[in-house]
Amino acid sequence: MEEKKKTLGVQGLLATTAVAVLWLSSLAVSTEQTNQKELRFGVKGEFKILQVADMHYADGKTTPCKDVLPSQMAGCSDLNTTAFLNRMILAEKPDLIVFTGDNIYAHDATDAASSLDAAFAPAISSGIPWAAVLGNHDQESALSREGVMKHIVTLNNTLSQVNPPGADALDGFGNYNLEVHGFEGSGFENKSVLNLYFLDSGDYSTVHAISGYGWIKPSQQVWFERTSVELQRAYMSEPEAQEAPAPGLVYFHIPVPEYASVNSSNYTGVNQDGISSPRVNSGFFTTMVEAGDVKAVFTGHDHLNDFCGEYTGIQLCYGGGFGYHAYGKAGWSRRARVVVATLQKTDEGSWGPLMSIKTWKRLDDENLTTIDVQVLWSNGTTEVGSPVGAPTASEGPSGMTPGSLLSPAVSPAPMTGNTGDCASRSTLLLVAGLGATILRAFF
Ligand SMILES: *[C@@H]1O[C@H](CO)[C@@H](O)[C@H](O)[C@H]1NC(C)=O
Ligand SMILES: *[C@@H]1O[C@H](CO)[C@@H](O)[C@H](O)[C@H]1NC(C)=O
Ligand SMILES: *[C@@H]1O[C@H](CO)[C@@H](O)[C@H](O)[C@H]1NC(C)=O
Ligand SMILES: *[C@@H]1O[C@H](CO)[C@@H](O)[C@H](O)[C@H]1NC(C)=O
Ligand SMILES: *[C@@H]1O[C@H](CO)[C@@H](O)[C@H](O)[C@H]1NC(C)=O
Ligand SMILES: *[C@@H]1O[C@H](CO)[C@@H](O)[C@H](O)[C@H]1NC(C)=O
Ligand SMILES: *[C@@H]1O[C@H](CO)[C@@H](O)[C@H](O)[C@H]1NC(C)=O
Repeated sequence: MEEKKKTLGVQGLLATTAVAVLWLSSLAVSTEQTNQKELRFGVKGEFKILQVADMHYADGKTTPCKDVLPSQMAGCSDLNTTAFLNRMILAEKPDLIVFTGDNIYAHDATDAASSLDAAFAPAISSGIPWAAVLGNHDQESALSREGVMKHIVTLNNTLSQVNPPGADALDGFGNYNLEVHGFEGSGFENKSVLNLYFLDSGDYSTVHAISGYGWIKPSQQVWFERTSVELQRAYMSEPEAQEAPAPGLVYFHIPVPEYASVNSSNYTGVNQDGISSPRVNSGFFTTMVEAGDVKAVFTGHDHLNDFCGEYTGIQLCYGGGFGYHAYGKAGWSRRARVVVATLQKTDEGSWGPLMSIKTWKRLDDENLTTIDVQVLWSNGTTEVGSPVGAPTASEGPSGMTPGSLLSPAVSPAPMTGNTGDCASRSTLLLVAGLGATILRAFF
């Protein structure tokens, strides 16, 4: 711990400064949200999350599909996205649906609020709790990012929040966390055994000297860090004090640059799109590694990528493009990612803490074919990261061969290859720069 603190000194200083400046007044952490519909593990000891990435919904029936085979163009519209979502919900019966941004393609939407209503309609009518974050296209109309998020939180059955109560100085809209409690009647019934974090990864850089996509800001990282610390403290206290933190899963839209550092000969899924991260590294990956509870990260944004791969102890995953009005690849099925967390059986025959986290994807073909089943994390027994069961042949025509993960990115990520030194240097430089900006802003 000591050594880690030293190498991350600049970031530590930044974080400390930001804490002091932004959170002198108390920041309410999730445990105080009493009106939130409770998420908890059921009698089967499982909790299942459906991730829906990049629906790009616009006007419904009159909005055509993009990048489908010529023979599929006629009669293909946003309604195909709706149909796919309905099928996924029926097939998987998830406990939570998470929309990871570009929910609507607001540029093509006549009325953003109506597009949002229609995009989320299958989730709303299913009665299943759902949560959403923003992408870089949700605000491209009369509704601002704040306006979009404020509309989303009025919709039925959503657990989305504009931002946590009391966190006025937080950048972005749609930063919040959800707790998933242990089995009712077990020793873990009042503990969050699985933590879900949602962040706004922004849209585009607002800094003149830096072009390209936005990034997760220091204020958001400080909120994340504080929330993680609080949750870990609660989990590791009586009753049933645990020795390790409860696993955390993090959902946002734009991949952090470390997605390009996943070992190119050991990942599951495909990278046919490059990694469209911001051009700078704001340090959020390092913040997650340092927090210690995050096991996997789930983004969207690059519709033709659907891989999961591990980097320094965290699984970095794409959802895979879902929406028919989003760019895609003709003949390569739209898809969605499912994550299932499973509890350990206790000696008394009840349910204890988490045992494993698995994932797979489903394709929007006639059978909703399941592909790429893999274990993302497990407590002890199972080998982590290895594909479970045979990788299927239905992957589509253009699965990339291992080794190409780091090949030409759409936007030049600051770090390519596994040159950790270079990566951490640019991280520190940028973090130092942001730190200085904060200091200038507040003193
Ligand atoms: C879109 O939906 C229509 C109507 O259900 C269907 O006939 C068509 O096959 C779908 N297109 C695709 C590409 O899934
Ligand atoms: C929201 O759900 C409640 C309870 O199911 C229902 O009475 C209400 O009509 C719904 N509101 C909308 C806008 O769908
Ligand atoms: C959980 O909280 C409820 C209500 O405060 C309490 O009755 C119950 O005993 C608690 N369960 C455990 C395992 O601590
Ligand atoms: C892993 O399992 C052990 C034994 O049941 C338990 O004490 C520990 O808390 C578990 N770890 C996590 C992170 O749940
Ligand atoms: C990447 O994965 C391959 C195959 O699993 C392994 O042999 C190699 O050591 C890994 N490289 C790094 C840098 O971890
Ligand atoms: C769907 O399943 C049926 C029956 O197993 C099979 O004949 C068909 O080829 C499958 N379709 C696809 C697209 O995999
Ligand atoms: C591949 O990566 C996983 C983590 O995703 C790791 O557990 C496993 O050891 C790696 N395999 C090899 C051969 O390096």
